[in-house]
Amino acid sequence: MVQAANPTRLTVQKKQIAEGTTAMRSLDWERDRFDIEFGLQNGTTYNSFLIRGERTALVDTSHEKFRALYLEMLTGEIDPLAIDYLVISHTEPDHSGLVGDVLALAPQATVIGSRMALQFLENMVHRPFASRAVKSGDTLDLGGGHVLEFVSAPNLHWPDTMFTFDRATGVLYTCDAFGMHYCDRRLFDDDLEAIEPDYRFYYECLMAPNARSVITALKRMEPLGEITTIATGHGPLIRHHLTELVERYRRWSSEQETATASAAIFYVSDYGYSDRLSRSIATGIAKAHAASELVDLRATDLAEVKEVIARSQAVVLGTPPTAGPAAEAAQAALGVILANLTAKQTFGVYEAGGSADEPVTPLHNRLLDLGLAAAFAPVRVQEAPTPATYKLCEEAGTDLAQILTRARTIQQMKSLDVNLDRAMGRLSGGLYVITAAKDGVRSAMLASWVSQASFAPLGFTVAVARDRAIEALLGIGDRLVLNILEEDRYTPLMRHFLKRFAPGEDRFAGIDILEGTGGVPILQDALAYLEGRVTSRLDAGDHWIVYVTVDNGQVSRPEGRTAVHHRKVGNHY
Ligand code: FEO
Repeated sequence: MVQAANPTRLTVQKKQIAEGTTAMRSLDWERDRFDIEFGLQNGTTYNSFLIRGERTALVDTSHEKFRALYLEMLTGEIDPLAIDYLVISHTEPDHSGLVGDVLALAPQATVIGSRMALQFLENMVHRPFASRAVKSGDTLDLGGGHVLEFVSAPNLHWPDTMFTFDRATGVLYTCDAFGMHYCDRRLFDDDLEAIEPDYRFYYECLMAPNARSVITALKRMEPLGEITTIATGHGPLIRHHLTELVERYRRWSSEQETATASAAIFYVSDYGYSDRLSRSIATGIAKAHAASELVDLRATDLAEVKEVIARSQAVVLGTPPTAGPAAEAAQAALGVILANLTAKQTFGVYEAGGSADEPVTPLHNRLLDLGLAAAFAPVRVQEAPTPATYKLCEEAGTDLAQILTRARTIQQMKSLDVNLDRAMGRLSGGLYVITAAKDGVRSAMLASWVSQASFAPLGFTVAVARDRAIEALLGIGDRLVLNILEEDRYTPLMRHFLKRFAPGEDRFAGIDILEGTGGVPILQDALAYLEGRVTSRLDAGDHWIVYVTVDNGQVSRPEGRTAVHHRKVGNHY
């Protein structure tokens, strides 16, 4: 059943998914894609579940924007006074935003959660409530065979997270883990092809920085017994492709674990904007083939902080709070971090944008004084971050990772067979500048690996290295311009766009541009340009092959010829 409040934005849906088990989903069709992991623009859902044995448990709630819709759906399904337990998988407000409202209607309910979740909840729900802290292996018998077993799954995605397994139905409730931001009326993973880009993207943004914790959680899932359904907190529930999708988490996390270079990102979750800023930096690090580890100082003991530093080649610090509930733990951890860093490590710092940030410049300078090399200038967050701020963080993460992986990259270039390398070098291309714009962020890249790919529709491909800043602006549906450079006149533009730009730096300063469709810059000094839209992307190892269908174009000098790029070796551009 789908109840439409505003049919284009927020709807709710409830359906039985197993014996005694009802899914209640809040469908957010246009969730603000400002949040980094919402990059594929398919909205999201917040999933809540009711399990009825002889006693009843509600697993998670919804986002507060669904207050009226969710409470109407819940009270239409059950008398709140009949809810015995409220299981909290994780306290981020997208799942727990209505806990206070539910407890107002169901004051008799006992809240079940990890010790940390209950602690966080006390700061969120300003009313007394009965509670029981649980850990891995603890059970709760609802009667009728519905024995709930709890699995600690810290860092997926906050340190408070736990899974719940119902032995009667084989349903495993995982909250963020195995989720995706994909809003669709289909309850389950019917269409693997449709959901897999979002499944991967979500993994990369939320889970990859905690690959070690993913592997631990996967191990803890093994003895549970047959899992029939993974009831995630976001997107479709996983049933039809369960083995395959779980296996992907295992594979991706193992790959992440074996990356040779790793950066630790120390932050305080739920403080300022540190959660999303940290994830943007982690995304940038992953683009340059290095691993990252997100370490929440609210919840990590000092011995572990020391261990993380010892195994990391770089550290990123979000300014910790100097006041408030997490200040004491964060400041103690900061002391341990500063005492254990060595001059061989690389670092970056960013402002968390909270109410009581440690000043960022003195922190940056202290790390320089310790002899560490700065990978990027301190990232400052004066007001609420914009897409440009998150993009800047991503680029800063990529710069940092490129420093860590430089030696490996040079080694790989040298290891190519000499004859093969020379033969590859005889492939030639033109000289182009790709420009793109999205959410007020503009970028550009010099390109040579461009080729017409089709007549109908008219289209071309361009190869884009994964660690290019512009890559994030070239998702399916995004617009771009291919600026074609001219023989004998290309040097100024080539020199400009070959420059190394600092994170967030304006690529178009001093360049004459016009605004094309969607605000994408067109270079006035180019020989010709083509405007188009990305319609597909092919994974080609360290590059994406981006296929673009063209809808507009113009030549400024009809007598001009395209600049050609000849190379001698195939191991670089
Ligand atoms: Fe979906 Fe981390 O909350």
